[in-house]
Amino acid sequence: MATSRGGKQSQPLLHSPTPAADGGGGAAGRRRFVAFLAVTAALVASYHLLAPTNPSRYHALFLSLGSNATAAAHLRALTLRPHVAGTEANAAAARYVLHAFSSLSFPAHITPYSVLLSYPVHRSLTLTPSRGLAAKPFSLVQETYKGDPYAEAAAEVISTYFAYSASGSVAAEVVYANYGHSEDYAYLASRGVDVAGKVALARYGDIHCEDMVRNARAAGAAAAIVYTDAKDYGGGAGKGEKRRWFPDARWLPPTGVQVGTLYYMNGDPTTPLWPSCAAGEDCERLSAEDLAGSAAMPGIPALPVSARDGETILKAMGGDVAPPKWQGGEGAPVYRLGPGPAVLNLTYIGNETLATIENVFAVIQGKEEPDRYVIIGNHRDAWTFGAVDPNSGTAAMLEIAGRLSKLQAKGWRPRRTIILCSWDAEEFALIGSTEWAEENMDTLASRAIAYLNVDISVFGPGGLRPRATPQLDELIKEASKMVPDPDEPSQTLYDTMMSHHPPITRVAGAGTDFAAFLQHIGVPSLDMSYGTIKEYPVYHSLYDDYVWVERFGDPLFHRHVAVASVWGLIALKLADDEIIPFNYVSYASELEECTKDIVDKCKGFPVSFSPLQKSIKQLERAATKIHKEKMLLQAENWSLKTRQYTLKVREMNDRLMMAERAFTNREGLAGRPWYKHMIYASSDQDDWGTKAFPDIVSAMDKAKKSNTTESWRSLQHEIYRVARAVSKASAVLDGGLT
Ligand SMILES: *[C@@H]1O[C@H](CO)[C@@H](O)[C@H](O)[C@H]1NC(C)=O
Ligand SMILES: *[C@@H]1O[C@H](CO)[C@@H](O)[C@H](O)[C@H]1NC(C)=O
Ligand SMILES: *[C@@H]1O[C@H](CO)[C@@H](O)[C@H](O)[C@H]1NC(C)=O
Ligand SMILES: *[C@@H]1O[C@H](CO)[C@@H](O)[C@H](O)[C@H]1NC(C)=O
Ligand SMILES: *[C@@H]1O[C@H](CO)[C@@H](O)[C@H](O)[C@H]1NC(C)=O
Repeated sequence: MATSRGGKQSQPLLHSPTPAADGGGGAAGRRRFVAFLAVTAALVASYHLLAPTNPSRYHALFLSLGSNATAAAHLRALTLRPHVAGTEANAAAARYVLHAFSSLSFPAHITPYSVLLSYPVHRSLTLTPSRGLAAKPFSLVQETYKGDPYAEAAAEVISTYFAYSASGSVAAEVVYANYGHSEDYAYLASRGVDVAGKVALARYGDIHCEDMVRNARAAGAAAAIVYTDAKDYGGGAGKGEKRRWFPDARWLPPTGVQVGTLYYMNGDPTTPLWPSCAAGEDCERLSAEDLAGSAAMPGIPALPVSARDGETILKAMGGDVAPPKWQGGEGAPVYRLGPGPAVLNLTYIGNETLATIENVFAVIQGKEEPDRYVIIGNHRDAWTFGAVDPNSGTAAMLEIAGRLSKLQAKGWRPRRTIILCSWDAEEFALIGSTEWAEENMDTLASRAIAYLNVDISVFGPGGLRPRATPQLDELIKEASKMVPDPDEPSQTLYDTMMSHHPPITRVAGAGTDFAAFLQHIGVPSLDMSYGTIKEYPVYHSLYDDYVWVERFGDPLFHRHVAVASVWGLIALKLADDEIIPFNYVSYASELEECTKDIVDKCKGFPVSFSPLQKSIKQLERAATKIHKEKMLLQAENWSLKTRQYTLKVREMNDRLMMAERAFTNREGLAGRPWYKHMIYASSDQDDWGTKAFPDIVSAMDKAKKSNTTESWRSLQHEIYRVARAVSKASAVLDGGLT
């Protein structure tokens, strides 16, 4: 999972001692597994009774074939060494995936691209507590622990850095900026703390590093340091409680550092709106000068540091005491705003270089509609060992592949083509998936049914957490009813999912590989995991290794298997059901809800939402109509599968597939032409926490701040633009001409 621009991280990582902190291992775990098997058997049996048709029998078989040993073996093999994109270790991981696919007798291939990656060459950070004192250097090293089986491989872990950070040296007083929001900088200004030319110190936990460094730069900072505060990532909650961390607890050790990327767009920075090419091939690329001036680059030197280093810096700071919400946890020093008197000297030299990345594919050719694609994807490259991020997802995907191969041996062939994708360089800027989607854009636009992403499959306990475009809601619910919840064996994934509010979230932000499919092309998409990021404080650090997963993430690998089951079943239904199981009625009601939200916020202002409200009503009618048509078609005499019937099914499926495309707009979002989807995209500086309509939200934000005629007119314009997209989608569902 890369970081997600313009959005909030799902949750600040607050201390939340979870009941299953041992991850559910031991005797209790075994008892749960026995119950889990019983429920699986019962569900498989009931599925046979309910759905006696051929593909459904294969789907039931698929569910019965889950193997935690297979998932664990793949995960262990993939995470023996750290494997950052562009390195030999990641090429070896690509060969591992290719071999896994081929040995299951699926046609498999690699598509390489040469793209601009960014590596650290030199880093140094020193602290001078006050004038005249000696500068104290930080070691900038994440420490291994006694008995760490990965200690030797840890030497290969990339130095802690921010990809695409500007190179340079800055020595200046430090200013403390809390979680690094623009509001935090506004607060500093209100207290008379001048950030210009200073080094801003911000902490992770609320927004992503790209936004933090952007906000620091916007406030005039000459450099930025981002640390992980022990309060949010360090473990040991209450008063007098001893802090515990990995390997004794799931928390981040004091020297742990969360690395990340600072590039603000998606894809190869040298080919911003078009596909890249392989080494030795010719494609247009931006020059180093173009890139140096690009607004998508951070433009200032920045470095992530550990909780320990962050605290050392804070201890050396003076100035006014920071407000209570800006303070640290139990045992932390008093945080002050600065500036100084401590001076930080940050020197960073990076190497931005073209490197080869490799996407690996397996293709399971469809029997009846080979030209319709159901695409499953996960990235393979990792900042360190990648045991959770992303190879918990890779292990689940390879476990699915193993089951599909067994189905194939029993005679199953999907109706439509299923493509399994192992993406590269996701961590740098979703590069592998973006370049491939850009290169195949028009073919995907005319043939892709859905893109099903799993990045991290398991964070820890917490049940199934899907986010999706709303026409997939019903399918997600139906599939999750077929899979027992490994943590609550008397319940299904559906039961525990429905206890979350909301059970299914949306795909407004991205931060992972569905962005190009959904937000650039308009392919219905989902992304899901078991548990949430708050269970996983070792995110993007040295400690994201197999031992962490075995102890805390998923000791028996049952959560991996559960995610593989629901992910694979959704893919199978999309590939095999004669009529694509999309329901646009839920899309219409979702958009109606989101609109209500915004209308409420604009009460009394000179703007009308009725164009949007009308278009949503129209969508609701079209969705209801096609749903009825589908029922009628399904009720037709199945023994009369004439050519005419086949064409009718195909025509209806095309309308269902293409309706999502209609939400896109060729020009794209205001000032962000790569983002074509008018409903779902991350929104710049989203203070409203909205779930949809990024450009309406930002125009509303501006209008409410400035209250000028001009600004309200521009909001009205955005409302019309979205309304037109929604009307286009209704027209596609209707399938007629005016
Ligand atoms: C900052 O550190 C760099 C690298 O060690 C050094 O070359 C430079 O002179 C230092 N700058 C100041 C102002 O101390
Ligand atoms: C940058 O990386 C390229 C490719 O690996 C290498 O040839 C070059 O020497 C590196 N430059 C520096 C300054 O490290
Ligand atoms: C798979 O599950 C079984 C039954 O709970 C358990 O005994 C076994 O250790 C698990 N395998 C792995 C690799 O976790
Ligand atoms: C379906 O069509 C076949 C062939 O015309 C006919 O024999 C059969 O009775 C029909 N079944 C139904 C339920 O209408
Ligand atoms: C916005 O501007 C209008 C017209 O100038 C004025 O009547 C209204 O009070 C303003 N509203 C706010 C909240 O400032």
